[in-house]
Parts: sequence; C-alpha cells; structure tokens
Amino acid sequence: MQKKTRVLFVCLGNICRSPLAEALFKHKIKEKKLENYFYAESCGTANYHIGDTPDPRTIRNAKKNGITIDHLGRQLCTEDFDQFDYIYVMDKSNHANALRLAQEQHYNKVIMMRTFDTIGQGEDVPDPWSGNEEGFQEVFDILDRSMDQLIRKLSEGLALARQVL
Ligand code: 4NP
Repeated sequence: MQKKTRVLFVCLGNICRSPLAEALFKHKIKEKKLENYFYAESCGTANYHIGDTPDPRTIRNAKKNGITIDHLGRQLCTEDFDQFDYIYVMDKSNHANALRLAQEQHYNKVIMMRTFDTIGQGEDVPDPWSGNEEGFQEVFDILDRSMDQLIRKLSEGLALARQVL
C-alpha cells in the first residue's frame, strides 16, 4: 500500500483550534472514503495543556455542529517536521514559533490554515479561548470552510501523483 500523506494541525494550546481542525479533517476524509490516503494529528506550540482533553466549549460547539473530538494535548516537537508532509498552523504566531523549531529544509511544509479559506484568505484563525460561544462558532465556520478547500487541494495532488481518485 502507498504511504499515507501525513498532515499536522498546530495552534497554541492544542485544546481549541487544532483539535477541532484534526477532527474536521478526519470527519471529512471518512465521508469521502479517503482514509487509506491520509493520516492526521494535532498539537500545540506551547506546553500548557500536554495530556489535557480539549476545552469543553470546543467539544460542545463541535458536537452541536455534528463533529466528535477525541484528542489529548501534545506539544509540537522537532521530529514532527520529519514525520509530517504538511504542517498547518492557525495563526502568524504559531507560524513563527513552528519555524523556530524547524530546519530550513522543512520551512515550506509550514502553511497558514487560512491559505485555503474562501473568505479572509491568509488571515489568522482567531484564538477563541478568552471569548464566547460566538467566537467558537466563528472558528468552527472558518475551519469547516478552509478544510473543504484544503482537502480538495490535497486530493487533486494525490490524483495527479497516483491516479487513484
Ligand atoms: P488554542 O487556544 O491555541 O486554539 O488551543 C488556546 C488555548 C489555551 C491557551 C491559549 C490559547 N492558554 O493560554 O492556555
């Protein structure tokens, strides 16, 4: 079997944005029956929430939108840059922190999540942590929208490379 394309979603704490991004990715990949082609994880640049379950507000909001999150927090490490093909970061600060850990040959693996958004392209996915439900829903909508385009791009690449889809 072909090696799976490995994608890593990164935010600051790994309890709000990136675990949701991971769960959305897995949900959509399953729906499209692409599970044999992709592998996903998430992590945070900070060490605040290692081993923690996601923020209850993120879990609740995701559930309301039909997405189940199953994750324990972990921190981004240098090995991730060897072990993943694409590293999707939520904001400019995550981007700068990720590059600080990466060797130069891996810089081009690190991509802003909203590169793929159809609205507010290239902007930050806002940190919802100190906000309210409206903020969590905004993050959900941004990630949901961006993920559709991200998966489309990945699938196009896969189809070209492997003639499988
Ligand atoms: P996240 O949100 O980066 O989307 O997981 C945050 C979660 C926790 C903290 C900051 C942001 N914190 O400072 O603990």
